[in-house]
Amino acid sequence: MQTLTIRRPDDWHVHFRDGPLLKQVVPFTARQFARAIVMPNLIPPVVNAKMAAAYRQRILAVVPAGVAFEPLMTCYLTDTTDGSDLVAGHRDRIFTAAKLYPAHATTNADEGVTDIKRLYPVLAAMEQHAIPLLVHGEFVHADVDIFDRERAFIDRVLKPTLEAFPRLKIVLEHVTTSDGVDVVRANRARMAATLTPQHLLFNRNAIFAGGIRPHMYCLPVLKREKHRIALRAAATSGESCFFLGTDSAPHLRHLKEAECGCAGVFSAPVALQAYLRVFAEENALAKFEAFASLNGPAFYGLPANESRITLVNKNTPPPTNIKVENLGEIVPLFAGEQIEWSLA
Ligand code: NCD
Ligand code: ZN
Repeated sequence: MQTLTIRRPDDWHVHFRDGPLLKQVVPFTARQFARAIVMPNLIPPVVNAKMAAAYRQRILAVVPAGVAFEPLMTCYLTDTTDGSDLVAGHRDRIFTAAKLYPAHATTNADEGVTDIKRLYPVLAAMEQHAIPLLVHGEFVHADVDIFDRERAFIDRVLKPTLEAFPRLKIVLEHVTTSDGVDVVRANRARMAATLTPQHLLFNRNAIFAGGIRPHMYCLPVLKREKHRIALRAAATSGESCFFLGTDSAPHLRHLKEAECGCAGVFSAPVALQAYLRVFAEENALAKFEAFASLNGPAFYGLPANESRITLVNKNTPPPTNIKVENLGEIVPLFAGEQIEWSLA
């Protein structure tokens, strides 16, 4: 049986939510990953160091006993972000990075940034103090086709920002297009991208396979096959500017299977298995450790994890649903299917 032993990986983009969902979802990530960059798009959003420190404690409280897991917190940027609180929070090791949601771009982004220029004083402070800017790279406007939002963001927001702040470190989160891959490569000295399992595994046909598939709907939305091919090449290249970020985004089943369904794929229970399918198909298992365990820490200036995990090429059924007391259930990626890898 084929096995793969690598340094313990990290997830550089995850949504844990809060309240009753938190304790159901955190253990899945904590079992696979040593650290995770935790997204701040709660209601209300995590906009200052005090809120982040409290949220971090709520996360740690639901990590299973005996599991070593470190949440890395992010600050939700708004039009009125207090740059000095962000800098102090970063100095005090509460914040690892700050997240830019363009206003209304995705789940709980209504308090996001309306115009990047309003953020320039904060970006200047982030550049000065080497605080990475994590971007949801979509330009959302009635005149921009949903499949072109990433490219529009690159042209209208990202490129001017790269020019205005030549030393600012930027992560293009959940990159979905070849345009995104290109801009990251061109700025690799201070840019990187996270890649999700769903954008590596599926193209946009998956949203409409035999009918509408709400569990395949996420933002940025799945793209054309040519983009998926470019993403797979980037992920499996071993290049240091591409690393693992699941964007695992749990929503209750009834909120996805609805007239106006929520965006997000809950991949945490099968995250490594899903990526391994991609790397095995591309004959690139030798590059998996760089993608999952080395490139992310190098970009963030953190040490790679010392402990190791072993994955086994063995069929296992993923969980079909995760119950959340009194609220409903969450349907994970690959529910009802088999996945050909498992954790030893
Ligand atoms: C995320 C969520 O639900 O919080 N949804 C998603 O489709 N990815 C938000 C995000 O990362 O865009
Ligand atoms: Zn996300």
